[in-house]
Amino acid sequence: MAGRIPEDFIETLIERVDIVEVISSRVQLKRAGREYKALCPFHNENSPSFTVSPDKQFYHCFGCGAHGTAVGFLMEYDGLEFPAAIEELASMAGLEVPRQAGAPQAERNDGLYSALSAAADWFVRQLASSREAGQYLSGRGLDDKVIEEFGIGYAPEAWDSLHKYLTGQGIKPDAVEAAGLVARGERGVYDKFRHRVMFPIHDRRGRVIGFGGRALSDRGPKYLNSPETPVFHKGKELYRLHQVRKARDRADHLLVVEGYMDTVALFQNGFPNAVATLGTSVTADHVELMFRTVSDVVFCFDGDEAGERAAWRGLEAALPVLRAGRQIRFLFLPEGQDPDDVVRAEGPAGFQRRLGDTRTLSEFFFEHLGTGLNLESVDGRARLVALSEPLLRKLPKGPFSDLMGQELERRTGYTSTSPQSDVSGARPKAGPDKGRLTRVQYAIAMIVQEPELARQIDTTVLDVPGELKGVDFLRQLIDFCIGKPHLSTAVLLEHWRERPEGPWMARLAARDLAIDADSAREILQHELNRIGVQMLESGIHSLQEKQATGSLGRDEEKSLGQWLALRASIRESMDK
Ligand code: UTP
Ligand code: MN
Repeated sequence: MAGRIPEDFIETLIERVDIVEVISSRVQLKRAGREYKALCPFHNENSPSFTVSPDKQFYHCFGCGAHGTAVGFLMEYDGLEFPAAIEELASMAGLEVPRQAGAPQAERNDGLYSALSAAADWFVRQLASSREAGQYLSGRGLDDKVIEEFGIGYAPEAWDSLHKYLTGQGIKPDAVEAAGLVARGERGVYDKFRHRVMFPIHDRRGRVIGFGGRALSDRGPKYLNSPETPVFHKGKELYRLHQVRKARDRADHLLVVEGYMDTVALFQNGFPNAVATLGTSVTADHVELMFRTVSDVVFCFDGDEAGERAAWRGLEAALPVLRAGRQIRFLFLPEGQDPDDVVRAEGPAGFQRRLGDTRTLSEFFFEHLGTGLNLESVDGRARLVALSEPLLRKLPKGPFSDLMGQELERRTGYTSTSPQSDVSGARPKAGPDKGRLTRVQYAIAMIVQEPELARQIDTTVLDVPGELKGVDFLRQLIDFCIGKPHLSTAVLLEHWRERPEGPWMARLAARDLAIDADSAREILQHELNRIGVQMLESGIHSLQEKQATGSLGRDEEKSLGQWLALRASIRESMDK
């Protein structure tokens, strides 16, 4: 990726774009007072709970809890990484994204992309000249249309013909090597892929980033994948995700399989939404990517023990991101058969029938954990509770985690008493819920929602001795806002995106504080005064304790007098 995007550019960009425009180019919005409403694009619903606020430049769904800025929306809806979302917004706003130092890396990567793309074209051209490869593909039932759709090619059985070709085209030998296309041995540089059917792997922008090579002989591993390179990370890429996302009819579900050939066979039989992991188990990054594309994911695994293990790893990776509206299902195939085998043996109708009979996450979850336990016995049920609870705690709070808790209760008769997570871990809820925020958090929430307020209040009450959790951050936030007039919530959130408080601030932005605009300033000032008094009180208290034991120094005695006077004056101003 190119160099860092300067922070002030992001700020300018967020000020320049209008979230209403960004979202309405993808989702049909309806005006409702000062806000806009729509059916939420991130979960299924019949009445609109998705709201967009032009004032805050922020969206929020009361149904599933999704929320964020225009950047966040593009990341979620278009499945983009942060820099790509910024690029997209910039192009909507007609701005060029400037880059800070780091550009050399981007230039180096350009060389890798060129090498990989030229290699992909070359492999395709080699296919025509190999009878053996052609026979292999037709033997596996692939027609020309599919071969073209997948960009399948052939790496000839030669020492270094790809290397010669690419360097002959003016591509730097360093780039060819860094792209993972060649290796270096005692006899010099040689092609890594030899006598293999080649599957190009694309990133989400459609660039070739690596290859999988299927052996045509018994020599070497059955599949050889590109090594990890600066542009190829197996744990972060899914084979064919780019093509599925690009398809004209937006995919509503993904089938997740293990093999290249499985995606090919499924495609050929009318299931174009299959993506494959690249010889690794499913990672949390994979699951994030999947849910940025669709909200319904079906894992298709072998019915054997290895398949069950792989499915379980997928489940574990998915738990932290399973909020309402996102669903995972499991399709276990007959033992020893992969999707390729099944769809060819049973045809599209047969595979479709199986898709109609998947296991839900909760079924798989409790059955997997319950394997070998006797749930008739108290011991067995206690064991199931003990195994389930740490995993269930990983679920984001919300309807889904509540239902899973109820299911555990149904299966064991045990009512969980595990405490709800703290405020910063809780999902935003509809309706006022001030009770769960501390005074300081409440003040922070108000400023996050209306940064202009920071310029309208008297903050000297915070310059008092004593400490209170969160006040340092509150001061920092106020200072930031005072320095920038006309600041929107979105700019604020983007500034803090990569900082530890960022996600928490975004959740505060989504909360309903139940404050009417006219009294907001007054309410915030009152909160700040109370915070000031609270801090003073702790300082006064400790000095008074010293005074009682007669160990108060002269300076301290002076301070105590001043603080008592200060407290009195703040209290007086509060009574007014
Ligand atoms: P399989 O061995 O199930 O391959 O490996 P497959 O797709 O059914 O292959 P065919 O049908 O025999 O051609 C599944 C996936 O595991 C990875 C590859 O990504 C493969 O598609 N794999 C497998 C490797 O990376 N290396 C190997 O040696 C084998
Ligand atoms: Mn297979």
